[in-house]
Amino acid sequence: MNEQQRKEMDQIKKSEDSADNLDRLKNLGSDELIGKYFQSTYEPPNLKKAKKRRREEVQVHYDHSIPPEMQQIGKGKKFLIRTYGCQMNEHDTEVMAGLLSEMGYETTNDTKEADVILLNTCAIRENAENKVFGEIGHLKPLKLENPDVIVGICGCMSQEESVVNRILKKHPFIDMIFGTHNIHRLPNLLKEAMFNKEMVVEVWSKEGDIIENLPKVRKGKIKGWVNIMYGCDKFCTYCIVPYTRGKERSRRPEDIIQEVRQLAAQGYKEITLLGQNVNAYGKDLGIEYGLGELMNEIHKIDIPRVRFTTSHPRDFDDRLIEVLAQGGNLLDHIHLPVQSGSSEVLRVMARRYTREDYLNLVAKIKKAIPNATLTTDIIVGFPNETDEQFEETLTLMEEVGFESAYTFIYSPREGTPAAKWEDNIPMEVKKERLQRLNALVNKQSAEAMKNYQGQTVKVLVEGESKNNPDVLAGYTEKSKLVNFVGPKSIIGKIVEVKITNTKTWTLDGELIKEPVEVN
Ligand code: SAH
Ligand code: SF4
Ligand code: F3S
Repeated sequence: MNEQQRKEMDQIKKSEDSADNLDRLKNLGSDELIGKYFQSTYEPPNLKKAKKRRREEVQVHYDHSIPPEMQQIGKGKKFLIRTYGCQMNEHDTEVMAGLLSEMGYETTNDTKEADVILLNTCAIRENAENKVFGEIGHLKPLKLENPDVIVGICGCMSQEESVVNRILKKHPFIDMIFGTHNIHRLPNLLKEAMFNKEMVVEVWSKEGDIIENLPKVRKGKIKGWVNIMYGCDKFCTYCIVPYTRGKERSRRPEDIIQEVRQLAAQGYKEITLLGQNVNAYGKDLGIEYGLGELMNEIHKIDIPRVRFTTSHPRDFDDRLIEVLAQGGNLLDHIHLPVQSGSSEVLRVMARRYTREDYLNLVAKIKKAIPNATLTTDIIVGFPNETDEQFEETLTLMEEVGFESAYTFIYSPREGTPAAKWEDNIPMEVKKERLQRLNALVNKQSAEAMKNYQGQTVKVLVEGESKNNPDVLAGYTEKSKLVNFVGPKSIIGKIVEVKITNTKTWTLDGELIKEPVEVN
């Protein structure tokens, strides 16, 4: 950057007129130079730092406040948050919506109407990131047309240095980037972005403390997410999550139980306990208290349905199985990601269990909970996975009898160990394996669905079907989507439906009783 450009850039940074700024930025020279300039003003996120697990105890903070000058800032204004990725992100979006609402903002689905647009991003696979970069591209003309709109990038991608650099270089119109550990700072960051008129980047590489009592605007009034822990310490060799979400930190049991009680009192019918590895719950608390104990407490709360996700096979202990076997509101659908059926692949993935360990665990679960439904996650085409090893995944799929599975082609993530390994498996082979696996998943799902023909199931009615407003849709205890005709008045209730037709992924039925609060 020459002297002239640097001077111009300094002026732009000081300038109050953002419309003018953008034009001047555009005229100034290459995006790369602009990126470099802004880059010099912040500390980039660092995956190596994020990898460090520290000994200090995590503090819990119960106070939260919005800076006085921001408390009314959103009056008459609107926000839109696009959420990518997992339930954790969906729930983070509810917290950000809560913070924005406390500042007076209202929600909108229309980008043209929005004064604040946030992309809550996911870094799990390359195609997840590509979607976000596509959306960033779409937002550029909007920002040029309406320079006052604030566009922010948050979520897991913000924790990656390469992503932040790319945004700085290629998309300088973005107003703010903040990380997964900085969500509670949204009001302050928004303030900076509004008044400083320069890109605000705040990404803490290491996790912060637990902040309780942040406001939330939940997406619905029927089902609610409840975070029980943050982060992940497992470091599976392919996975970016331990870097983007920090070390495992469990919320205190009393805070979780209070939140569940509140949701029950507000009439919520279902909660899902959330964590990257919920079975590790409590390990960091220094007390003899795990997920089993927590669920045992929640079992006594008057809320009809309790789920949990995601569990790691390694930490699925006997106490948890014993508690789940009590049934009641603890549902017998267990999502238990296996990733591969080959012990050798599992070893290089650092999953810390073998095929046999997994099968033993499944046998134990089925013995204690005979009706248990199991679903899973599988990665195909892990570096150097042989045909035989892939076949082992297919046989495991059948042996366990998974009723469905999320299946993925391995995607190298920068900064993870596996990304550095040579991989002799061509993409064509990986795609073929995915197809073969998906054919088996579809077959097993369709077979599981057929068993429901003529049966009566309990359905929590969530609303109109996506494809047909005259039809209602809801989920069974085992997470099967059921479509049936009924009055709108039963939305939010648990009703009994007789299954009249089964498809690969959904069931059709007839309402036989309404509304039965059958728990
Ligand atoms: N904590 C959860 C997983 C969260 S990520 C667990 O351990 O079960 C959800 C799923 O994405 C994983 O189960 C895995 O199947 C898949 N996944 C994670 N990293 C991936 C990668 N680099 N490439 C392809 N799939 C990946
Ligand atoms: Fe990723 Fe493994 Fe942690 Fe799951 S348990 S989030 S796959 S590192
Ligand atoms: Fe994606 Fe982050 Fe979730 S990487 S899957 S949004 S924890």
